Amino acid sequence: SKRQPIVAIDGPAGAGKSTVARAVAQSLGLLYLDTGAMYRALTWLVLKLGISVNDEPGVTEIASTCKIELRMSDDPQTGVRVWIDGEECTQEIRSLEVTSHVSAIAAQKAVRSELIKQQRLWGEKGGLVAEGRDIGTHVFPNAELKIFLTASVEERARRRRADLQNQGGLELSLEKMQQDLLERDWKDSNRDIAPLRKAPDAIEIYTDGLTIAQVTELITNLYWEKTKH
Ligand code: CDP
Ligand code: CDP
Repeated sequence: SKRQPIVAIDGPAGAGKSTVARAVAQSLGLLYLDTGAMYRALTWLVLKLGISVNDEPGVTEIASTCKIELRMSDDPQTGVRVWIDGEECTQEIRSLEVTSHVSAIAAQKAVRSELIKQQRLWGEKGGLVAEGRDIGTHVFPNAELKIFLTASVEERARRRRADLQNQGGLELSLEKMQQDLLERDWKDSNRDIAPLRKAPDAIEIYTDGLTIAQVTELITNLYWEKTKH
């Protein structure tokens, strides 16, 4: 039988990928796949085991043996719930420590091929909205709809800071938030394997001044246009 459609959403940190992908999936009745959560979970486990993120053989060993589980939570604030080797790490993977090390892990070739294998397995039958950095370029190059979400770095830093404040986290200056975002974007865009890039056939949406609901509606409308025959 025919594969169900796939929506690929890529873009830099804080562009709104997770929030919007989740809402689009809900509105279209598709599954939601947060691939960043997988790289984050692996990073969390590597740090917990006291292995250096630059120890490629050590990290590869863990990537090829660990079991990552993702499940939708009922609370829209939580995003996906995440387990690795049976242990829940939903909150821990959003820590500053994981965030500052994840790009080093995600740059490793063996790590990417392990995690991408899983992502493609989940996407075999289609029917999902997948979100990350290389979904439209690499993981699902035949996706029916590809979106590249962006926003100015100032806006992305404001959004991230509001997230941290809502979680009762520590106060970071907007300047520091911007620096961290730009550093991670740079690493993700300049790595050798499957760097962050807009696919030639992706539609770019610049989200400064747009609400989550507006971006969600834009994407669902594009989806209906693309999939009607
Ligand atoms: O939510 P945020 O934009 O902060 O990041 P994320 O989507 O959770 O992704 C965290 C990190 O994982 C990124 O900065 C990338 O280094 C890596 N990642 C990747 O390399 N490829 C993906 N498809 C998804 C995430
Ligand atoms: O996944 P990504 O890093 O691209 O971004 P996100 O975690 O989905 O969004 C970061 C924050 O920006 C969240 O708190 C969203 O609610 C917020 N956001 C927004 O205020 N307006 C948008 N158009 C999109 C996201």
